[in-house]
Amino acid sequence: MGSIFSFITKLNYMCTIFLVLWLFSFSFTTTEAYDALDPTGNITIKWDIMSWTPDGYVAVVTIYNYQQFRHIQAPGWTLGWSWYKKEVIWSMVGAQATEQGDCSRYKTNIPHCCKKDPTVVDLLPGTPYNQQIANCCKGGVISSRIQDPSNAASSFQLSVGAAGTTNKTVRAPRNVTLKAPGPGYTCGPARLVRPSKFVTADQRRVTQALLTWNVTCTYSQFLAQKTPTCCVSLSSFYNDTIVNCPTCTCGCQNNITQPGSCVEADSPYLKSAIATSGKNSYAPLVQCTKHMCPIRVHWHVKLNYKDYWRVKVSIINFNYRMNYTQWNLAVQHPNFDNLTTVFSFNYQSVTPYESINDTAMLWGLKFYNDLLMQAGPLGNVQSELLFRKDKSTFTFNQGWAFPRRVYFNGDNCVMPPPDAYPWLPNSTPDTHIAKLTPVMVILISLAFLFGHA
Ligand SMILES: *[C@@H]1O[C@H](CO)[C@@H](O)[C@H](O)[C@H]1NC(C)=O
Ligand SMILES: *[C@@H]1O[C@H](CO)[C@@H](O)[C@H](O)[C@H]1NC(C)=O
Ligand SMILES: *[C@@H]1O[C@H](CO)[C@@H](O)[C@H](O)[C@H]1NC(C)=O
Ligand SMILES: *[C@@H]1O[C@H](CO)[C@@H](O)[C@H](O)[C@H]1NC(C)=O
Ligand SMILES: *[C@@H]1O[C@H](CO)[C@@H](O)[C@H](O)[C@H]1NC(C)=O
Ligand SMILES: *[C@@H]1O[C@H](CO)[C@@H](O)[C@H](O)[C@H]1NC(C)=O
Ligand SMILES: *[C@@H]1O[C@H](CO)[C@@H](O)[C@H](O)[C@H]1NC(C)=O
Ligand SMILES: *[C@@H]1O[C@H](CO)[C@@H](O)[C@H](O)[C@H]1NC(C)=O
Ligand SMILES: *[C@@H]1O[C@H](CO)[C@@H](O)[C@H](O)[C@H]1NC(C)=O
Repeated sequence: MGSIFSFITKLNYMCTIFLVLWLFSFSFTTTEAYDALDPTGNITIKWDIMSWTPDGYVAVVTIYNYQQFRHIQAPGWTLGWSWYKKEVIWSMVGAQATEQGDCSRYKTNIPHCCKKDPTVVDLLPGTPYNQQIANCCKGGVISSRIQDPSNAASSFQLSVGAAGTTNKTVRAPRNVTLKAPGPGYTCGPARLVRPSKFVTADQRRVTQALLTWNVTCTYSQFLAQKTPTCCVSLSSFYNDTIVNCPTCTCGCQNNITQPGSCVEADSPYLKSAIATSGKNSYAPLVQCTKHMCPIRVHWHVKLNYKDYWRVKVSIINFNYRMNYTQWNLAVQHPNFDNLTTVFSFNYQSVTPYESINDTAMLWGLKFYNDLLMQAGPLGNVQSELLFRKDKSTFTFNQGWAFPRRVYFNGDNCVMPPPDAYPWLPNSTPDTHIAKLTPVMVILISLAFLFGHA
């Protein structure tokens, strides 16, 4: 009886793993803006009308990043929308429209922007004080909620003309687009919500907006880029094999159709390749590797103590055109509920599903390793994690010691195939189970469920 039970438990455990891996393999083929590790993550744009003017209104627009571990890095956000009528922007504080457009119908006072579909960007740090408002002028960079909540929002003010001048005649902007700076976000329609309330600095008075619209934008990695940007390699103290990232994970070296798609580390052309990239510098220029990913995360199972085990995590930058400032890593592993110490990285647990504490967000210590330098000898950061063993679940078998998912800056890192994971000496992976197809896994899981009913 006991052996049947343990067999079923084991089978069920393996089914879960394979089911998770199988579902995971679909995450690249769906446009559904849903992230298993941050299911409610979104960016909300709040449009507060603060006062009416003779021909329109003054509004404060704030972009709130409600994502746990995805931030907007340089060169920052770009916000676009379409006006409902013939509105114009008279002036802006804390941001600017990238194009003025055709303002020829205005004779004396010329508006800041007359385009039907304005595109707005943040101002740069160091903007004169009289052009700033709170939360502006960070070059469009917005932190993630966990990493730096005080910098997880960005604001600007605009004065709109040729618009409605009462809450009955004014119209919300339509077709809002958020680029960060590339594609990836999809924004819903503006919704009329309860007016925002503002507490004065001395906390003794509350004022409120005349009217507030909210727009919610969600991220989909599939929309952002068709190819992955990050991969995971694995190794362990108990097996000499280093499981590298799968070949061609992020692209293939192809000298014929795409000469210069990558650069050899010792190439004499490296300097000029980096220099000539200046203008269009946000397309990655990667070092030639089999995987061609700009970022590789290495997970090394380093030591085994009686009550603890130790992992070394390294992040290696292969992109010659990118210093990652304020990088972050989200990692899922069942032992994160017993994480004891994290060396030289910041740590916070992420619990998208209240009861399951298996995900960690890791990021660099300020002024020490929060800057992941461009490819080269300095282009890596490292940490070690010490886990306390929970005797009932801990094992080095079946690749248990390796992470289930890894995200770098919110982007999914491709894992090697499970059957390539380093084995324990004297153990062979149970090929019988490893070869189960997803359909069989579902059938077995169903059988298991019904067996209980
Ligand atoms: C956006 O995120 C916030 C904070 O997590 C959440 O309260 C809100 O419901 C989310 N909005 C949508 C439309 O998902
Ligand atoms: C518009 O303002 C009137 C009072 O001026 C108020 O009764 C009404 O609720 C407001 N409508 C909206 C949508 O805010
Ligand atoms: C806004 O988007 C809708 C559908 O997404 C489209 O039909 C419409 O033409 C767009 N409006 C403008 C002004 O771009
Ligand atoms: C609108 O957005 C603001 C800022 O994110 C949020 O505080 C507020 O709860 C939202 N309102 C609704 C009804 O979602
Ligand atoms: C591309 O060129 C590099 C050196 O120029 C060479 O090492 C590499 O094998 C070539 N790759 C292919 C796919 O031909
Ligand atoms: C990265 O930072 C270093 C040191 O601050 C600087 O020398 C280098 O030019 C930067 N590289 C890029 C691609 O921005
Ligand atoms: C998850 O586990 C870690 C390590 O034991 C602990 O520090 C953290 O507070 C836990 N988080 C939650 C939400 O329980
Ligand atoms: C591991 O964490 C879980 C949940 O926090 C706790 O119930 C369990 O006792 C811990 N195990 C060890 C060995 O500390
Ligand atoms: C190490 O793991 C690999 C699979 O990645 C396996 O082929 C090899 O036999 C293992 N080595 C030992 C000594 O068990």
